[in-house]
Amino acid sequence: MLFLQLVLLVVLLLDGDSEDVFQEPISFRFILTLSLYNRSWTQNFASAWLDEMQTHGWNNKTGAFIFLWPWSKGNLSNEEVITAEESLYSNIVGMPQCFHDHFSEWRLEYPFQVQLAGGCELHFGEPSVGFMRIAHQGSDLVSFQNTSWWPSPTGGSRAQQFCRLLNEDHEGNELMHKLIINYCPRYLSSLLDAGKADLQRQGQSCSLPS
Ligand SMILES: *[C@@H]1O[C@H](CO)[C@@H](O)[C@H](O)[C@H]1NC(C)=O
Ligand SMILES: *[C@@H]1O[C@H](CO)[C@@H](O)[C@H](O)[C@H]1NC(C)=O
Ligand SMILES: *[C@@H]1O[C@H](CO)[C@@H](O)[C@H](O)[C@H]1NC(C)=O
Ligand SMILES: *[C@@H]1O[C@H](CO)[C@@H](O)[C@H](O)[C@H]1NC(C)=O
Repeated sequence: MLFLQLVLLVVLLLDGDSEDVFQEPISFRFILTLSLYNRSWTQNFASAWLDEMQTHGWNNKTGAFIFLWPWSKGNLSNEEVITAEESLYSNIVGMPQCFHDHFSEWRLEYPFQVQLAGGCELHFGEPSVGFMRIAHQGSDLVSFQNTSWWPSPTGGSRAQQFCRLLNEDHEGNELMHKLIINYCPRYLSSLLDAGKADLQRQGQSCSLPS
């Protein structure tokens, strides 16, 4: 909590828009870990983070987000939250299936882990940066750049095949681009605004020594 209070304190003191006062980039990222034990058993864990601070958990039975702070929702409407939950859920169901289906072709061995990390970074005075990466057993497999997926240079033929498969979904790629380039930075800004409002509500008035 200390980190966010410090960040928000700076925002309050300067009384500017949150985006304008960050000299250091600040990131929002979503992490999904799939553990595949065999064709019929997969464990899923997901969380979301504002820099080093966890903002969201995820209920792997209901597919619902767990908002860890009063401001974790940012300015998302309930409808937008449901849309995000549904799209996440379909990905979480679809992704292990994709790995099971190409199990022998990609020379995979149970058990294995797949990690997906995506989000965006706000940079002071520069356009935001969006990112999305998928790793297998901790090694980069593919990453999303501009509007399509690219194999990691160290990912071998498995990464190239996975990439080709992902890129068949043109609509999915367009959506992904929008998600990390448009929606994510706006959501990140709204998280900072909501956090600031929350601190103000708590009546934390501070004065810095001059
Ligand atoms: C999958 O793994 C779980 C846990 O090891 C085991 O209980 C289950 O029987 C396995 N299923 C198959 C189809 O092998
Ligand atoms: C859901 O998470 C719990 C621990 O939080 C874990 O024990 C369980 O296996 C997970 N279930 C699935 C389907 O991933
Ligand atoms: C992404 O787009 C930028 C600017 O259009 C370009 O400089 C960069 O090379 C592109 N990256 C890839 C991997 O195509
Ligand atoms: C949410 O906040 C962001 C950043 O302040 C803004 O760009 C966006 O338009 C807001 N969305 C709504 C629905 O108010």
